[in-house]
This record gives sequence, structure tokens and C-alpha cells, in this order.
Amino acid sequence: MRRVVWMLVVAVVSTVSVGLVSQEATGLHPDKPWAFPSRIEKPFPEDDAPKTLPGSMRTYTMAQIDDLSNPPDWYPDQHPTPPPIVVKGHGGAMACGACHLMSGLGHPESSDLTGLSAEYIVQQMADFKSGARKDPTGKRMNGIAVEATDEDVRQAAQYIAALPRRAFQKVTEADMAPRTALRNGRMRYLAEEGGTEPIGGRIITVPEDPARARLRDPNSGFVSYVPRGSLARGKAIVETGGGRTVMCTVCHGNDLKGLGKVPRLAGMHPIYTVRQLHWFKDGTRNGADAAQMKPVADPLTDEDIVAVSAYLGSLAP
Ligand code: HEC
Ligand code: HEC
Repeated sequence: MRRVVWMLVVAVVSTVSVGLVSQEATGLHPDKPWAFPSRIEKPFPEDDAPKTLPGSMRTYTMAQIDDLSNPPDWYPDQHPTPPPIVVKGHGGAMACGACHLMSGLGHPESSDLTGLSAEYIVQQMADFKSGARKDPTGKRMNGIAVEATDEDVRQAAQYIAALPRRAFQKVTEADMAPRTALRNGRMRYLAEEGGTEPIGGRIITVPEDPARARLRDPNSGFVSYVPRGSLARGKAIVETGGGRTVMCTVCHGNDLKGLGKVPRLAGMHPIYTVRQLHWFKDGTRNGADAAQMKPVADPLTDEDIVAVSAYLGSLAP
């Protein structure tokens, strides 16, 4: 009898742990929807009215703005002439400028690509293509990398690497954060009913001007509310390792602006950085150079990751 009970216990425990492992391996982290936006909670109502932005001669409808293969280019005079794949998609290779904007500065649910070297971008596209690096929340980059040609990737990388880096988001410590909802484009917007809630251990990122961000305005940035004390805690880990990991400056440079295939970290959308650190830990991001990051990210707790990401986001790009 006792033996049967033990066998049952072992069976239950191993089922539970297999369950936990496979949930981790999906990379979705459903307990952190503030950093891993995988599902639209409240779509905007349909709207056909033509849209404009200050200082742009162009007009687009919402359907045109959300056409990921032919996205708006509001300010063609603000960037060099993009190669075809940045402005126009083909098949599953959607236009890079749709989600990352023609400026490359991107939204917090995608990523800021400015400041990356062409060789790093080419490597990441190869890692997305092979599946060694996964994009489980957006489910975007793996399909795009498979469908993009080598020439598309080469041209996009060259264009992006030449884009200027500029401040597009800011970070502010707070006890309370605005209430939000995840809406079209998997972007977090202020809740219609307004109000605030305790920030807890989260980072809450919202557009500075929701109406303009919705139109993919490359000149309207984001603000992140981060827990009080996280900037000082993050700074200590980044600069010294905080007694638990390797200081980031060793590889990413004293100014954290990267070098060659080691990417820049300063001035990034903090929730993008949160996702990457969890994904190095859980193996979702396992590309050619990820082995260098795995032992660095492994010892970091959830709270450390929030602190490091908040601090890095607060630095000048
Ligand atoms: C439909 C939206 C979408 C389009 C179109 C798109 N991307 Fe992305 N991209 C994303 C998302 C979402 C991520 C971030 C995934 C994550 O959370 O890490 C990303 C991340 C990346 C990264 C990783 C950046 C880093 O710092 O490591 C690169 C490189 C990249 N994209 C290049 C491209 C290129 C080149 C194109 C055009 C061929 C493109 N993307 C088109 C959504 C898109
Ligand atoms: C031993 C060298 C090394 C150290 C130390 C290191 N990194 Fe990295 N880091 C890398 C490399 C190499 C990559 C690119 C990995 C890849 O291509 O997948 C990277 C990538 C990253 C990325 C992804 C950036 C992006 O644009 O997608 C983040 C975030 C990051 N590191 C954060 C940190 C933090 C935070 C620390 C310090 C706690 C740190 N790194 C310490 C080498 C290092």
C-alpha cells in the first residue's frame, strides 16, 4: 500500500514539474502580461476617416496605417531612402517599417532597431529563421525571417544600421501606474475609465500621445512607469554585477552602446529588455551568440530584471 502511495506521489510530482517546464518553454510568461503582450484585450472600434499628423503632407486611413505590407511613411524627408523590404512586404515577409517604423525606433511590443550593427541584425535574422531565437508573443519575426530573401535582409540591415539613434521613450519611478488595456497592435493604452493602480513589481509602458502612437507616428514616443528604487538597484547590477552576475559593461561597453555583434542596451524600451532577459534564461532566445548571455541572465530574479531594464531604459540612447 505504502509503495503504491509513493508511486502516486512521484507520478503527480513529475506531471506537475513537466507541466511547469513546458509552460516556461513557451516563452509566453502569462503571469507578466505587462511585458509579454500576446493577446488584444479591447480592440478599437472600426474607423474609416482619413488621418493626418502635424507637419506631414500625407493622409492615410486606419486600414492603410495597419497594412503591415504597405505601411505609412508619414515623414519621408526624415530618413534616407529605404530599400524595398522596409516599405513594402511580399508574402509573409512584411515591411520592416510597419512595426519598427521607418525611423527604426519601433514600439515597445516590437523593438527599437536603431544603434544595432548590420552584422548583428543579419545574425538575428538568421537566428529567427532557424528558430534558435523565437518571437512567441508577437509570432512575427520567425515567419518574416523565413520569407525574407538574403538580399532583403542585407539591404534592411544596411539601412537600419545607418539610422540615427534618438530619445523616443522615458522612464519615471512611481508608486502608482495608470490603469491600461492591451489594444490593437498589442500596444498598451490608458484605460478608458482612467484611474491608477499600485505599480507592484511591474513596468507599465504607455504612449505619450495615444492617438498619435496609434497612427504609427515616428515622432510620438513612450513613457514607462517603473517601481521606486529600481533605477538605483539596476545601476548597481549593470555597473558591478550586484554580487550575483557579471557586470554588463564588460561586453556591452562602458557607455552600454554596444560594439559589433554585442548590441547596445542604453535607451531601449524597458519591456523589450525584460522579455529578452527572461528569454535568455528560459532558452526561447538561443541564437548563435546567446550562450554569452545565458549565464549572465540566469542568476537574475524577476525583480532584478525589472530594475536592470528600467535603469538601461533611463540612459541616453
Ligand atoms: C509585423 C510586425 C513586424 C515586422 C513587419 C517586422 N518586425 Fe522585426 N520585430 C517584431 C517584433 C514583435 C520583434 C520583437 C520580438 C521580441 O519581443 O523580442 C521584432 C524584433 C526584431 C529584431 C530583433 C532586434 C534586437 O535588438 O535583437 C530584428 C533584428 C528585427 N525585428 C528585424 C526586422 C526586419 C529586418 C524586418 C523586415 C524584414 C522586420 N523586423 C519586420 C515585429 C516585426
Ligand atoms: C560575456 C559578454 C556579455 C555580458 C557580460 C553581458 N552581455 Fe548581454 N549580450 C551579449 C551578447 C553577445 C549579446 C547578443 C546575444 C545574441 O545574439 O543572442 C547580448 C545581448 C543582450 C541583450 C539583447 C539586446 C537586444 O537588442 O536584443 C540584452 C537585453 C542584454 N544582452 C543584457 C545584458 C545585461 C543586462 C547584462 C549585465 C547584467 C549583460 N547583457 C551582460 C554579451 C554579454
